[in-house]
Amino acid sequence: MPEVRVEKLLDSPELYLIRVDDDRIQYFEATWDIPEGITYNAYLMKLDGATVLFDLTKKEYTELFMDALKKLVDPAEITHVIIHHTEPDHTGALPAFLEANGYRATLIGTTFSKRFLEGFYGEKVTEKFHAIKDGEELEIGGKTFRFITVPWLHWPDTMITYVVEDRLIFSCDAGGGYSIPEEIDDGNEEAVQKYLPYVTKYIVTVIGHYHKYIVQNIKKLKGLGIVEEARMILPGHGLIWRKNPARIFEHYEAVGAGKTKEGKVLVVYDSMYGFVERRMEIVLDELRKLGMKPVVYRFTDKEAPAVSDILGEVPDSQALVIGASTFEAEIHPRIRYTLFEILDKANYEKPVLVVGAFGWGGVAGRKIETLISRSKFDHVDTIESRGMPLPEDEERLREAVRKLVNWIS
Ligand code: FEO
Repeated sequence: MPEVRVEKLLDSPELYLIRVDDDRIQYFEATWDIPEGITYNAYLMKLDGATVLFDLTKKEYTELFMDALKKLVDPAEITHVIIHHTEPDHTGALPAFLEANGYRATLIGTTFSKRFLEGFYGEKVTEKFHAIKDGEELEIGGKTFRFITVPWLHWPDTMITYVVEDRLIFSCDAGGGYSIPEEIDDGNEEAVQKYLPYVTKYIVTVIGHYHKYIVQNIKKLKGLGIVEEARMILPGHGLIWRKNPARIFEHYEAVGAGKTKEGKVLVVYDSMYGFVERRMEIVLDELRKLGMKPVVYRFTDKEAPAVSDILGEVPDSQALVIGASTFEAEIHPRIRYTLFEILDKANYEKPVLVVGAFGWGGVAGRKIETLISRSKFDHVDTIESRGMPLPEDEERLREAVRKLVNWIS
């Protein structure tokens, strides 16, 4: 059952985490398999003469959230609500909150946010709305709140808040990840190691389409000097970063840039009756002989991995091998969908080898080759043939793998 977790993070300024642990969700954005769940993090800061709420939660958890909030403060006393971006996993509870608040609070967000909120929840919610300019500072409760826009990280309306005197970055989705960690922060290295792959998966599935903006925006924040000096980074999902705050942005930057792990080759294929599988045994054997470390995902009549997990493997891979059957004069449907998402969400400049098998006529390999050629990926070769591979097919496959490995050497 989803639960809400409330933790005091600081005495001065008085700062709380209100974390809704969503273990009911199966498909984030109705698309990405996340059996590991997700948290929605909101924060409450009590200051002299002001009480600030940073983001809210998803609509279906409004009651849970409001009950937790009411234990910390009378909602009518909240003077400001900061909307870092308007995606409903953080704003769904806004209308109910404003009812309880008596519409006293001033909402703070970007001009885009105002427009989106009105579209989602009606014009009444933005009756008191302050639209910030990039870099604008407001004095709230004796503190300096600086608002910095980070567009396309991952919505056009996204911004972060920097509380200058306390060096706190409220970072919205940036710095977030999937799963429901037992811990609330990065204090335990084992927990961090377990969590980081879920961060990568989150980055690619949620922000991946705009991954170049991750690098740009983090560069912008670094340029402002706030990443190095931050005392805490407080994201909208997952762990809080206070032992080593800069680490999470470094991870984001590395994933955004597609920084590779030595030897990692992502191999994804379908095999209906073993023909592609036999080719892949040859490919994997040659890859290993050449010292590579393939990571394999396969669609067969017994297994179908989550595409969201495959996407999470792309950024640090040095190369990809895509294997597909021709299926009714098309790419096998599982690979067609997987490839579409790779090209859309994880569109990095990495070499790809295409391997195909067919019964009646070869189409899949050619179609994949065309799709890859139109993307940022580099097409290395396509090896496609009928039925079981013949000795000459095996030699062509091994030669193509050597070409792929040479490409990244
Ligand atoms: Fe966590 Fe983009 O909402």
